[in-house]
Amino acid sequence: MTLQAWMAAGYAEKNMKKEASKRSVEPDLTIRGVTVFRGLVPSEVQRALVDDLREVVASAPLFRPETARGQKMSVRMTSAGSVGWVSDRRGYRYQELHPSGLPWPQIPPRALEIWRTVSGSDRLPDSCLVNFYDADARMGLHQDRDEADLTEPVVSVSLGDEALFRLGNLTRGGSTQSVWLRSGDVVVLAGEARLIHHGIDRLRPGSSTLLPQGGRINLTLRVAR
Ligand code: SIN
Ligand code: FE2
Repeated sequence: MTLQAWMAAGYAEKNMKKEASKRSVEPDLTIRGVTVFRGLVPSEVQRALVDDLREVVASAPLFRPETARGQKMSVRMTSAGSVGWVSDRRGYRYQELHPSGLPWPQIPPRALEIWRTVSGSDRLPDSCLVNFYDADARMGLHQDRDEADLTEPVVSVSLGDEALFRLGNLTRGGSTQSVWLRSGDVVVLAGEARLIHHGIDRLRPGSSTLLPQGGRINLTLRVAR
């Protein structure tokens, strides 16, 4: 059984109460058009993904990006794929090299399986942003709009401590709604909700034992080019 089939089977079993449908997996929650698949990634796969990410970080070390205005972000980042997301005094962009000058490592196949399970896209992501949040890190409300084709979804995977995910609107300002994301949850920003403002307010330190030192990893898979 492929990893994708295994994840889908376990997830489908958990969601048996729900109406049968054509798709193998259905979201548990839709907020402002953003879909949340609760616990889609089984804990064994979460652990294997963390091992994959150790290898990613070994060849493309985490760095703390600076905004164009010169402010250090609290989240540490790196990427996998043919392009990675970087931000510095020159602004933010996708580029083919890690700040060290080396190419980014390959996207872990396990992460691609998650994309295949939920994205509904015929394409594969060419970039996987890896965000590491320590207990005090946060991410302000923003849109993901640096990708060439904004009809392609963004798939985000939560690993480790729970995080309060805030959703705003397609334009700046207005009301917001929040949801706690747990380890193994997968969020999809697609269609009408692709450009929704989103951010992370705070972590719930100690809420997961997945990462020995605590904290949270978020993977965001994107078709950047
Ligand atoms: C992001 O928007 O890049 C990260 C979202 C998250 O950490 O869940
Ligand atoms: Fe984002």
